[in-house]
Amino acid sequence: MKELVMGFLGCGNVGGGVWKLLQGYADELDCRQHLTIRVKKVLVRSLNKQRSCDVPREILTDNPDDVLLDPEITLVAEFMGGEHPATEYMLKALENGKTVVTANKVALALNWHLLQAAAEKSGVGLYYEASVGGAIPIIGALTQSLQANRISSIMGIINGTTNYILSRMTENGEDYQAVLADAQKLGLAEPDPTSDVEGMDAAYKLSIMASLAFHTRVTYDKVYREGITKVTAADIAWGRKMGYVVKLLAVAKQEGNKVEVRVHPAFLPKEHPLAGVNGSFNAVYLYGHACKEMMLQGRGAGDMPTASAIVGDILQAVKAEGHYPYPTFANTAEPDPATVFDDNWTAKYFVRLSAADGTDALSYVAACFAKAHIAIEGMTQETAHGQAQMMLVTGEAKEQAVQSALSSLDPSLCTVENLIRIEA
Ligand code: HSE
Repeated sequence: MKELVMGFLGCGNVGGGVWKLLQGYADELDCRQHLTIRVKKVLVRSLNKQRSCDVPREILTDNPDDVLLDPEITLVAEFMGGEHPATEYMLKALENGKTVVTANKVALALNWHLLQAAAEKSGVGLYYEASVGGAIPIIGALTQSLQANRISSIMGIINGTTNYILSRMTENGEDYQAVLADAQKLGLAEPDPTSDVEGMDAAYKLSIMASLAFHTRVTYDKVYREGITKVTAADIAWGRKMGYVVKLLAVAKQEGNKVEVRVHPAFLPKEHPLAGVNGSFNAVYLYGHACKEMMLQGRGAGDMPTASAIVGDILQAVKAEGHYPYPTFANTAEPDPATVFDDNWTAKYFVRLSAADGTDALSYVAACFAKAHIAIEGMTQETAHGQAQMMLVTGEAKEQAVQSALSSLDPSLCTVENLIRIEA
């Protein structure tokens, strides 16, 4: 019988889930894998806090070195979240010859190069399946099962909070602020929701997925980012009339050495496989030259779904027996200079504008778009209380051309209320 002695960094929701999963799975591990997992030390902020899991009081510590420097501990699982001090603790664990399993997308996306260098130097493993998409095995798919593919496109719904908010706005016609407040009350959105609703969380995850899919480091700062705070019930209603559903999409595309990476609200045709992914579910839809279209869907957060990915990684690490896999690309602080990040992508655009009634703003806007050689596929107007609401959908156009056409509009004649890209 093999024994793994491990330590936890953190014991909140996710750490508690891992503890519960390990306890409930122990007998099966014993007989199926001939493996016993012993959690020797658990780093916590407060020794006296009430916990939902039954971790024995005597293995709790508030001294990180009890985990990071204990020679008997060979694997450290990190669930603290945030960049600091999680990065420093993980580096110390790796430098001290311990394999690290982490759920921390922020620390990984920002400091992956440092963590990987430390892991390689010590000849230990660095595992991070839980950092993207919770229980969905997207990291394993990209690094193992789909290795034979040249992946050219990834579209993901990889933030459960925003998918829950947008789904409810779509189903009930509710306003963003009302749904957010309710989601916070239900514990489905953080008290400070900025990282989720402004798209940072999805951008960290996209930078990790795109790096693995395209075999080149895609740093977080290269991801174009727009959150969901400007999406209104009116946008959603217009979209529905045209057969579209709005999602916060993480999009990554590669063609030759050109890479585009962006997170923003997007309309999808209601028949698209991602359009039916609702509530707090996550999904990744990708295209590989051999596998063709593929979608992986599942729970992107929560104690047990996240624990599923973490315990899976722990078992992979045990099986690796010292032969740890590292990503194939040069993992450096800056992207490879040969990779060109393209921020002038092609899409269709939905634009909502308002103007005073009777100003013939519709013809004025149409003329501005025609001047910029942007085709308009549909245009419509509704008038109420002396205000005209206009909606237009462009044909395929370049991002910069659309932005420049919109900024050329005279604000005394019409106001741009929102722009939502349309993906297919
Ligand atoms: N805040 C994240 C989400 C949690 O809403 O998806 C999982 O990373």
